[in-house]
Amino acid sequence: MDIIRVKGGHRLHGSVQVAGAKNSALKLMAATLLAPGATTLTNVPNISDVHVMGKVLKYMGASIDVIDEHTLLIDTSAVSMWEAPYELVAQMRASTAVMGPLLGRFGKAKIAMPGGCNLGARKIDMHILGLEALGVHFDTDHGYIYADAAEGLVGTDVSLEFASVGATENLIMAAVRAQGCTTIDNAAREPEIVDLACMLNKMGAKIEGAGTPVIKIEGVAELHPVEHQVVGDRIEAGTFVVAGALMAGAEGIEVTGFNPLHLDMVIKRFASMGIECERIAGGIHVRPVEHIKPIDIQTLPFPGFPTDMQPQAMLVSALADGNSIITENIFENRFMFASELVRMGADIHIEGHHAMIHGVRSLSGAQVVSPDLRGGAALVLAGLCAEGTTEVSAIHHIARGYERFVEKLVALGAQVAYVTVPDPNFD
Ligand code: EPZ
Repeated sequence: MDIIRVKGGHRLHGSVQVAGAKNSALKLMAATLLAPGATTLTNVPNISDVHVMGKVLKYMGASIDVIDEHTLLIDTSAVSMWEAPYELVAQMRASTAVMGPLLGRFGKAKIAMPGGCNLGARKIDMHILGLEALGVHFDTDHGYIYADAAEGLVGTDVSLEFASVGATENLIMAAVRAQGCTTIDNAAREPEIVDLACMLNKMGAKIEGAGTPVIKIEGVAELHPVEHQVVGDRIEAGTFVVAGALMAGAEGIEVTGFNPLHLDMVIKRFASMGIECERIAGGIHVRPVEHIKPIDIQTLPFPGFPTDMQPQAMLVSALADGNSIITENIFENRFMFASELVRMGADIHIEGHHAMIHGVRSLSGAQVVSPDLRGGAALVLAGLCAEGTTEVSAIHHIARGYERFVEKLVALGAQVAYVTVPDPNFD
């Protein structure tokens, strides 16, 4: 069994460049289905979720050439299947992002119903409601969702009950090929949505308002392949900002490869905790925080505080002078990280969607289990500042969204390594 072993107390120096955003790259890959031909994606993160999305596209008949580690040439000319199979959707819920483009290209889609995940039910009812408004008929049978727009997709006005990232993306990718205009009200505003709209417009789509709550899409007859660079990963960047705040040497560290504006709320809230971030070309310079002030944080859709930075913020709060409250409004079950951090000496009490965190002076290394992608990364960060050694297992979660996480930390001076240990489940 592979684990990540961290020896605490080593200061970080230098700079780290983040990869392209997982939560954009996966959708951009799905969007290539809308443009028969060869689309080139650059700055693609080399992570396991991208590999799974590649399998989904190949299953449908696409071909993918890995030009270099971060450049994919995706040719969807020969795609003749419109099915995302159970074994791939079960591996990665984001496979459902092919539903919109399959409907846009073929007028039909067969998608394995996504199960829940560690974060909660992860339903797609809003995706379905919005697509039904565009003229899609849905059936479910034996764990699969059958979507059919036999009479074609017809543009209309859609209001989302909640600013769902996935629902906004699927609706955009269907509406770009609908007859007439579609308006999405209460649309998600994440930078990854803007990145998707930018690529689709380069492909010939007519999308206005991406990044605002109202997105207008005028359907077009066809889309053509393009070259597009994936936006930098703001969440990976925020993760390294926390590493720097907690463990950088006096000179601080630089985190580059992303747009600091995409992390604006995080920088603002961290500033009120005493974390000084200075904007530099292509990123942020962060210095070690001397005295962490407590904070109250609510996770919200962009531009609010991102739920994907909640475990990292909880780690900072766990070492603050005083009491903090973190309220998780996006997922129903995103506090498992807290129970692992308590094993390292944190003082955290969970009440429903609220985490009450009483700051402690220090954490102690322990054996902990990654609950999910962001919680796993935050546990490694906790090990950086804990006394002694921390061993993080279930590290496949981390590999889903962080490219070379250990190597990047080692390059910054951390004492971190992958280690193979006997699996306790096998005697
Ligand atoms: C995307 O998930 C991201 N994943 C998540 O990142 C991120 O946390 C989330 O957006 C919020 O920013 C990808 O982009 C691959 P939602 P998504 O639709 O699209 C509920 C990470 O760590 N909901 O905005 O699934 C849903 O259950 C991951 O990188 C419905 O009830 O997020 C959740 O509680 C984790 N019905 C909430 O809304 C629906 O039809 C937010 O979901 C859709 C969503």
